[in-house]
Amino acid sequence: MGDFSPGCSLMRGQLMNVDVPSDMVEIASRPPVYRLLGVADKVYGKHLNHVWKGLAGMPWLDEPGLPVFAKYLPQTSQLDIELACGLASQVLRLPVPRPALVIADLEDLPSHPANLKHGPVMLFGSVFQPPDPFFAQRIEDNPLAVDYIWQKVCDDEVAPKGAAWDELVANPDRHAQNLLFDGGKWWLFDHNLALQPLAKLYTKVEQQSAQRAIVEHVARVNQLLAELCRRNRNSRETLTEAEQMTRHSKRLALLAHAMRRWEVDVMQWTTLNLTVVGFSCWRALARRA
Ligand SMILES: Nc1ncnc2c1ncn2[C@@H]1O[C@H](COP(=O)(O)OP(=O)(O)OP(=O)(O)O)[C@@H](O)[C@H]1O
Ligand SMILES: [Mg+2]
Repeated sequence: MGDFSPGCSLMRGQLMNVDVPSDMVEIASRPPVYRLLGVADKVYGKHLNHVWKGLAGMPWLDEPGLPVFAKYLPQTSQLDIELACGLASQVLRLPVPRPALVIADLEDLPSHPANLKHGPVMLFGSVFQPPDPFFAQRIEDNPLAVDYIWQKVCDDEVAPKGAAWDELVANPDRHAQNLLFDGGKWWLFDHNLALQPLAKLYTKVEQQSAQRAIVEHVARVNQLLAELCRRNRNSRETLTEAEQMTRHSKRLALLAHAMRRWEVDVMQWTTLNLTVVGFSCWRALARRA
């Protein structure tokens, strides 16, 4: 299989008779399904959903537990959307924490929603990225924090990448709390409101018309792009990032191909075909311009 993205290693792994670039072998080889290991800590904050911090792992594998933030999403379609965006972002080499599905018993989730009566539950896990303590302190209780965060983000190389990414997955939810600075770089997370037509078209996603509707969907707002424009930043950079992502669409197709071979018997598997996500970026950006 030729035409791999520029900069991608030429060493390739063989996975189920398909060549995948070596940097994708691990992510493509198995579904990221983990168990919560022990009791998690409830995370309190301004966010909407119930979130815990804990360790996740595969008890039958001899691997250390992975520190994760695990979020309960009442709609399973949003779990799929988070997972799809998380996986896609990895193969597009974006600074989005690595995603996981985390199976948890209710007794390990303190202060879980009252309507959850029977476990286990499936949570969306996101590999923990420690925030920079100095930055966190600077923005705590600061009335100007939101503008300060946007200014820092827009001054960073993450901004055009993130604007193109949010356009690609039609994410209307990039507010300042969905960005995190770890002292070296910015991370983008929280994608459960992206790709919204998927939730509506959920059962028919394999159909051509459903795929077209997903591709053509444009989010009502792209906050990162709006902030860049407000600060008169060159939108050319965002278009360049969008072009780059379009060139990487083959990597999404390879991942989708590998995912179809994953066998998971503990859950209904995501029905999202990642290949449909890969192609709308350019057009959507051009429409906004
Ligand atoms: N991988 C991670 N590393 C560090 N912190 C994280 C991570 N994932 C989530 N968080 C923290 O948990 C909070 C809640 O997560 P998230 O934004 O995904 O939840 P949400 O309920 O969907 O938020 P919103 O209210 O924006 O819809 C984030 O604002 C962030 O502070
Ligand atoms: Mg959030």
